[in-house]
Amino acid sequence: MKRFAFVLALLGVLAGCHEAPTPAPASRTDSAAIYRQVFVPPEQCQPCHPDHYREWAMSMHAYAVVDPIFHAMNEQGQQITGGRLGQFCIACHSPAASLLGEAPDGVVRGELSPHSRGGVTCVTCHAAAAQVPGHGITQFRLDGVLSGSVIDPVPNTFHASVYDRRFEQSEVCAGCHDVVNPRGLLVEQTFTEWKNSLYPVRDLPCQACHMKWVYAPIAVGGPVRRRHSHIMEGIDVALTDFPGREETMQLIQYALDNALIVSVETPSVAPRTQPLEVAVNIFNQTVGHNFPSGTIFERQLWVEFIATNERGDTLLASGLLDPNGDLRTTGSEYVERGLMPPDTALALFNGVAYRHGRPIDFFFDADAIVDRTIPPFESRIARYAVPATALQTAATVQLSVRILFRAFPPYVLRKLGHGDLVAKLPIFTVKTTSETVTLRD
Ligand code: HEC
Ligand code: HEC
Ligand code: HEC
Ligand code: HEC
Ligand code: HEC
Repeated sequence: MKRFAFVLALLGVLAGCHEAPTPAPASRTDSAAIYRQVFVPPEQCQPCHPDHYREWAMSMHAYAVVDPIFHAMNEQGQQITGGRLGQFCIACHSPAASLLGEAPDGVVRGELSPHSRGGVTCVTCHAAAAQVPGHGITQFRLDGVLSGSVIDPVPNTFHASVYDRRFEQSEVCAGCHDVVNPRGLLVEQTFTEWKNSLYPVRDLPCQACHMKWVYAPIAVGGPVRRRHSHIMEGIDVALTDFPGREETMQLIQYALDNALIVSVETPSVAPRTQPLEVAVNIFNQTVGHNFPSGTIFERQLWVEFIATNERGDTLLASGLLDPNGDLRTTGSEYVERGLMPPDTALALFNGVAYRHGRPIDFFFDADAIVDRTIPPFESRIARYAVPATALQTAATVQLSVRILFRAFPPYVLRKLGHGDLVAKLPIFTVKTTSETVTLRD
């Protein structure tokens, strides 16, 4: 019991947090000294936990304040809101940077310290004492004790260990994997989507899919136990020089391979005199929350649909990219300048943020969102009609369908001043399928 006396409350760290603020520690210098001790740099865990370190170091958690897109978006947000965002973004992407006062006005200028530049570091999770879904981690242990899911840890000279059953539950991820913006709107909701699905009753928390385990020592020289992977891949990969980019891309592809069941519904023989109607049915089979999820304003999951005749002429196409790499919809310069027609048949699964009824680029100022993602075990149908005029001289129609997924639309990177990174942005093929239709008079 006694050790809990050392846990200091840090409520109200995040702007937009609705809890009553607790008094701040005596002075910034005192508290900074305490936090420097608490937020042990991950490099110090490496000698005893080399595998955990290697995996974490290539994860998006380690990339959270390395990510140039994060910084560009945060800076743009601070400008748009006249600085009102304050610590909001940094307090979740690097709680240590926020608590150590390394970004006093919310923006990182210059180098971060070894305590904070790891973003979501080992200690961020293993010294978390409390979190509120959507508001990040609200309390850290300040006594140096690290919590985890090992019931009977072997003692070591570096840190005391304590078992905390929440490490086996989704609750340990909930603080950050729901995001409530400064207007009080739940804008990102991976945890809530999971909670409202059938996965909790099937006893499948985030860890079941994102932290697969093997039998191996969890510390050098220690006994063999369940060692959980700390890579935690999703869809995102580093766009800068960062360890493990290729390995992460392979793991993402592996996770996406079984994510969906896709079927093309159309007659095998159809009259040439009528439009050929095709439905593409997309079923979320293994994603433990909506697909996509989280920062759905950036994510693009879409259907590429191409109908050709036996000579290879295109009869109808949707989901193709303009010369900038953008889909021919909102954000395409080619469509906006009237150089290409908009893709009216496009099936795009993402989210759009609104403010005063108008679509906006970033979520922090949103007062409403439109969610076009696919919940677990639900289907969405994309419909196409190949016009009869295109069928007149054809004997057969070949339908090729691909479901494609990427973390960012190129126009967003360009708007943030990072157009140079577009070339490094992978597009994953989630599913490929095809169908042939024979035409009759
Ligand atoms: C001197 C070696 C050493 C260092 C340095 C070290 N650990 Fe450990 N750690 C251990 C040993 C030994 C265990 C227990 C292994 C066992 O019981 O199988 C352990 C256990 C743990 C556990 C499991 C606790 C539980 O009860 O579930 C966590 C979490 C952990 N360490 C995190 C860290 C983090 C984070 C750091 C860096 C801040 C770190 N360790 C640094 C040796 C070390
Ligand atoms: C049943 C398996 C399963 C469970 C349970 C699960 N996930 Fe996922 N998750 C996936 C798969 C598969 C993907 C890849 C598809 C994707 O990127 O959306 C994914 C993707 C993600 C992404 C990237 C989403 C995006 O579109 O940007 C995040 C973040 C994530 N998961 C976090 C979580 C959290 C947090 C939990 C627990 C609340 C959780 N997941 C539970 C399977 C699961
Ligand atoms: C995003 C949160 C998060 C971060 C960051 C994180 N861990 Fe963990 N860690 C967990 C969770 C959750 C578990 C327990 C998984 C389970 O039992 O289902 C765990 C388990 C462990 C264990 C117990 C053995 C095992 O594999 O289950 C050790 C040791 C450990 N982590 C060390 C580290 C070290 C060292 C780092 C940094 C290099 C780190 N962790 C970063 C969440 C995190
Ligand atoms: C302190 C906040 C925090 C906690 C706690 C946390 N995460 Fe994260 N997580 C983040 C941030 C921030 C990112 C995105 C970093 C970036 O790319 O800039 C992220 C990224 C991810 C991704 C990759 C998403 C993608 O699109 O590729 C997955 C998967 C993920 N987290 C799973 C988990 C799981 C599972 C847990 C619980 C065991 C967890 N996280 C706990 C903050 C957190
Ligand atoms: C409550 C925690 C939290 C807050 C606050 C937060 N984020 Fe995040 N952020 C996350 C998590 C978790 C992810 C990963 C979700 C996913 O991949 O779907 C993420 C992902 C991102 C990504 C995508 C990373 C990538 O490279 O794909 C960017 C960019 C980002 N956040 C910027 C911001 C900005 C800017 C703010 C402030 C306006 C902010 N975040 C506030 C938790 C947070």
